[in-house]
Order: sequence, then structure tokens, then C-alpha cells
Amino acid sequence: MESRFTHVHETPPPGAAADWTISQNWDAFTADEHAMWDRLFARQSAMLPGRAADAFMRGIDVLKLEKPGIPDYRELNARLMAATGWQVVAVPGLVPDDVFFDHLANRRFPAGNFIRTPDQLDYLQEPDVFHDVFGHVPMLADPVFADYMVAYGEGGLRSLKFDALKQLARLYWYTVEFGLIREAGGLRIYGAGIVSSYAESVFALDSESPNRLGFDLARVMRTDYRIDDFQQNYFVIDSLEQLLDITVNTDFAPLYAANAALPPIPIADILPDDKVITRGTQEYAAAKA
Ligand code: PHE
Ligand code: FE
Repeated sequence: MESRFTHVHETPPPGAAADWTISQNWDAFTADEHAMWDRLFARQSAMLPGRAADAFMRGIDVLKLEKPGIPDYRELNARLMAATGWQVVAVPGLVPDDVFFDHLANRRFPAGNFIRTPDQLDYLQEPDVFHDVFGHVPMLADPVFADYMVAYGEGGLRSLKFDALKQLARLYWYTVEFGLIREAGGLRIYGAGIVSSYAESVFALDSESPNRLGFDLARVMRTDYRIDDFQQNYFVIDSLEQLLDITVNTDFAPLYAANAALPPIPIADILPDDKVITRGTQEYAAAKA
């Protein structure tokens, strides 16, 4: 999975609006493209009950994502708007950071307007509509997570004057993309990068290889991550309320400065203060090295 926060600022491509949005042009998707969505949807939705967070499973339901084919945003947005005031907007691909933050701050989630091909079933460089809509949008139907994403966008806009993008990107990575949550039934997935990946949905919960650590804001913002393979670390929140509360009620400006004076934390390190949920063997990463 490609990191979102690595892009140089460019102007929108021809045909895109100043905010980089394009029309979904839903009628232009081919039968093969809809069939690819259905294939990915069937594989994930069979596996995720008991693995994905309650809020994610509720989102699938509330948004009626089980309807076959790539979702038509005219229908999806009516349901999403009713749930939390969010909208999905189509973009050609990754957008610049300031544009991305501005969309989030205004309750718009930008989704790549293309779908992977059969040879990219399990790996692709840029987020496609399956990752963006199946992975991210169900959580946006949850009021608490929806507010977290708005706050994140606002915080992102504010961070641009602090040279703090890397720290904020790590927070996004370890929550929105690769977050785990502790529920009554055990650990569950809420991160879009996991729920949209068949293999990582198994690995993140079942493998003995990765570390699973209790979420700590300042620590997460210093922790490096990998974009080329399964994560070596997952951070576990106790509830979506905890995540929203800590991020909204922390002034990030002093945190950015304090963290900038400290070295980044290497990917698989465990620190004395970590709340260790599972200490990983790291055998998966070692075998690949
Ligand atoms: N409270 C953060 C700030 O002071 C903003 C933020 C909220 C960042 C939520 C991430 C998530 O900038
Ligand atoms: Fe994503």
C-alpha cells in the first residue's frame, strides 16, 4: 500500500476541478469492473464477521454495500449523508496533502475512481475504489469515527505550518489505515488498509509475528511504518471514543515540537513504557529480509 503523504504538490489533471474532484461517471464502469468489485466484496465480507470492528460491520449494513457492483455515489451518499453528513467524492488518484485535509475537514472522502485489475488482486500501489470505498467508507457511517476524520482533516490543515506532516501521517497510518480495536469479543480490525486486504485481515489478528501495542498518541507519531508489506506493529485502541477524545483534546503544536527533537522509533522496537498486548516474534519480517 502506498503512503498517502508522499506526494509533491501538483495542479489537478485536465478534467478535474480545482479541488481535484471528478464526476464518478458511474455509468462508464464496465461489467468486468463491477465483477471485480463483487469478487473482492464476496471474499472480504465472508471473512470479516468476527474480525472487523462492530462499527465497520454496521457501516456495511447501514450503507447497503452488499448491493452488487461498484457503489453508485448518488445512492451511497444519500445513506452516508443521513448517517453522519459525510460524502464520497471521486478523484483520479492520490491528491495533494492540503487538498486531502480540506476534503476531510469538510466531510468529503476522496475515492480513487478506478478499480484494480485481476493481476493486482492483492497488491496495488495507489488506492482504488475498493480500498477507498469498502475499506474507508463503512467507518465513516459511525458518528464517532466520522468526527475523528473531520478533526484529523482540520488538524492536518493546521499542521501545514508546523512541518509536521510525517508525524501526522504516522497517526493516520496506525489508526485510519492499520488500526485495531479492543472489543468485548477480542481484538478487531477497523483500519481500511487491513479490512480491504484479504491476507492482512488474517495476519493482523492471527499471526504471532507482529507486535500489538496499546495506542499511545505521542509514541505513534514517532513510529516508522512500512508501506511495502504487512505491518510489524499494530496499535490497539480501547474504543473509538478514546481515539477521538485524545486527539481532539490534545494540542498537537507542542507535541510536534517535542517529537521533532526525538529520534523516530524504528518499526518493530518495543519500548519500556509500551503497553504490550502481544510481543511479536517478527518471524514473518525476518524471513523476508
Ligand atoms: N488536536 C489536534 C491539533 O491540535 C488536531 C487533530 C485532531 C489531529 C484529530 C489529529 C486528529 O492540531
Ligand atoms: Fe486508505
